[in-house]
Amino acid sequence: MIVGVLKEARAGESRVSATPATVEQIRKLGYGVVVDPGAGVAAGFTDGAYEAAGATVGDAVAADVVLGVNAPAPAQLDRVRSEATVIALFAPAFDPAMVEDLGRRPFTALSMDAVPRISRAQSMDVLSSMANIAGYRAVIEAAHEFGRFFTGQVTAAGKVPPAKVLIAGAGVAGLAAIGASGSLGAIVRATDPRPEVADQVRSLGGEYLSIESPETEVSKTGYAKEMGDDYKAREAELYAAQCREVDIVITTALIPGRPAPTLITAEMVAGMKPGSVIIDMAAANGGNVEGTVKGERTVTENGVTIIGYTDLAGRLPAQASQLYGTNLVNLLKLMTPDKDARLVLDWDDPVQRSITVVRKGESAWPPPPVQVSAAPAPAPAAVVEPAPKKAPMTARQKFGGVALGALALFLTAAFAPAALLPHVTVFVLAIVIGYYVIGHVHHALHTPLMSVTNAISGIIVVGALLQIGHTGTAVTVLSSVAILLASINVFGGFAVTRRMLAMFNRS
Ligand SMILES: NC(=O)c1ccc[n+]([C@@H]2O[C@H](COP(=O)([O-])OP(=O)(O)OC[C@H]3O[C@@H](n4cnc5c(N)ncnc54)[C@H](O)[C@@H]3O)[C@@H](O)[C@H]2O)c1
Repeated sequence: MIVGVLKEARAGESRVSATPATVEQIRKLGYGVVVDPGAGVAAGFTDGAYEAAGATVGDAVAADVVLGVNAPAPAQLDRVRSEATVIALFAPAFDPAMVEDLGRRPFTALSMDAVPRISRAQSMDVLSSMANIAGYRAVIEAAHEFGRFFTGQVTAAGKVPPAKVLIAGAGVAGLAAIGASGSLGAIVRATDPRPEVADQVRSLGGEYLSIESPETEVSKTGYAKEMGDDYKAREAELYAAQCREVDIVITTALIPGRPAPTLITAEMVAGMKPGSVIIDMAAANGGNVEGTVKGERTVTENGVTIIGYTDLAGRLPAQASQLYGTNLVNLLKLMTPDKDARLVLDWDDPVQRSITVVRKGESAWPPPPVQVSAAPAPAPAAVVEPAPKKAPMTARQKFGGVALGALALFLTAAFAPAALLPHVTVFVLAIVIGYYVIGHVHHALHTPLMSVTNAISGIIVVGALLQIGHTGTAVTVLSSVAILLASINVFGGFAVTRRMLAMFNRS
């Protein structure tokens, strides 16, 4: 089968559904790849780069599997072959007219924005990929509009305070925005009705602002629910106070299946400092901020800039195309189980079923709901049997042990060759000291400890090498075994040390 990569028809779209890197991955599944002329130019990928990756430049819409970012234009859809499969962002949940149109066509249509947010489907979750990029880009847009540093500085010309950033909603986009703002040096705060995100906010260096209300509870689905009046009143108080204080507000609040909740009122915007910036990421769904104009940049009377761009991911087109393309490759891998260039739609797989809008001309929308649970149900508390405690040694046992050791030492001194006694003494002392030194090292440090005990193995290797040719066969055999085992320890130790150091290596 041939996979076709469309040139996007939508005006202003800079992304493309495959990059030269993902073309190579598609080809590893056995498919040939045809790319529309100029398909990747807006994202920085030339036709030559696709050809170098093994694609041909030609008529992509005539392929067996047609890939797009947005829904193809009607003229393109008219030319899709009846047995083909088209994969794009059709937005069937928001565009009933599109679902109806596709239902009249003979081919199969799969919509990437319908991938369910379940662990198994994470590698195909386009909405998360795009929200991640958009959250990052929202911070870059804010930094561009804001007339000052994000980071605080002490300079010869005076002290610069760090910018204060408030992120409303700590989902995928919100967490990306927290990370990006923090890395630019700002003071970052975030709030979200799902208290379980508090640790994630803190792990990215942000401060979690909790809203204490009887309604606040851990979400069972991983999504927020519509909150009641009590919560909304407390939330409004928090936003009003924060708006007076912070320089940047980035709103990402979303409740699935509902218009975006209004969090920041016109009055709160009026209370913000001149020069402040608001990025309303929910602009496409109605906005979280009163006064947002979808797709536009506006400036209020008191000098607050409100950005309502809906193409934030597309403003990083090379990155967005790479992640979208990789999500598509992961879907193609799932649907090409034998890597034989044959696309198989498995109707029993909830992921494939969920994204199917039309199957061979038959409407399949809406799909049955998929059980989503981001917060695993708490496991029943395991009954832990206390480990049987070792009974401490009695005085008699201790005395017996010491007496046995003394007898062994006496017999060795009396009957063994004189040269053996100092060796035995060193051996016994080494055991005692080793027991107490290693026994007191914390468990967590055992691996690094063992990886640096190569020196001991080195001594064994040197000793065994000195002995190997000097005395009888038994000594030679024992020396050889000692060299073998100690060498395993030396090389194993280096390998473990290398792996541990790699964990701290940023590259
Ligand atoms: N502008 C763009 O270019 C662009 C690109 C991608 C995504 N988005 C939009 O960004 C928004 C976030 O996307 P996402 O993938 O991160 O969604 P998400 O579902 O992962 O996160 C939304 C978060 O909002 C929280 N929330 C709900 N009600 C809230 C409230 N009253 N106060 C504070 N938080 C609240 C939820 O608990 C959740 O954590 C969506 O509206 C999405 O459409 C915009």
